[in-house]
Amino acid sequence: DDHDHHDGNDDHELRVSKIRDGTVIDHVRGGQALNVLAILGIDGTNGEEVSVGMNVPSNRFARKDIVKVEGRELSQDEVDVLSLIAPDATINIVRDYDVVEKHRVERPDVVEGVLSCPNAGCITTGDEPVTSRFTVLEDGVRCSYCETIVREEIASLIET
Ligand code: CTP
Ligand code: ZN
Repeated sequence: DDHDHHDGNDDHELRVSKIRDGTVIDHVRGGQALNVLAILGIDGTNGEEVSVGMNVPSNRFARKDIVKVEGRELSQDEVDVLSLIAPDATINIVRDYDVVEKHRVERPDVVEGVLSCPNAGCITTGDEPVTSRFTVLEDGVRCSYCETIVREEIASLIET
């Protein structure tokens, strides 16, 4: 195609093989691939077929990570949380080797029921069930109940 931003190696070999059916999460910030896997609940023990490229050359950014998951399409909740750690990511749905859908992640204004508040005194972490709710900031998330702000380690707050 006539894109002027082929990531990486132009005529050289593809660093990570193409997949047949599944999802390619592309343009992930360098260093975030393992957090992407954490968000998707992938640790390899369930036999998932996954390829990961870390800190590979990209023309859009200096370096990017890329995650390819065979046989899986992502839920909107998963994409919402991904957007927090990979705000420039592209989600590519692949069917029979072709990219049939491509969209940029969008940062939601709030995320509900997907992250747990790290504040042990927060009403959302008590015995009475209260759905967690975080406002999405430029550089992190803020609990709507106790105002705790989390900037790093957002992936570690994901509710299981
Ligand atoms: N891809 C893949 N397996 C396929 C098809 C595509 O792993 N069967 C990967 C490509 O390697 C690329 C991403 O999915 O990393 C998007 O593919 P494509 O849209 O063909 O590439 P670009 O046009 O370079 O994407 P963009 O414009 O989003 O950078
Ligand atoms: Zn809280």
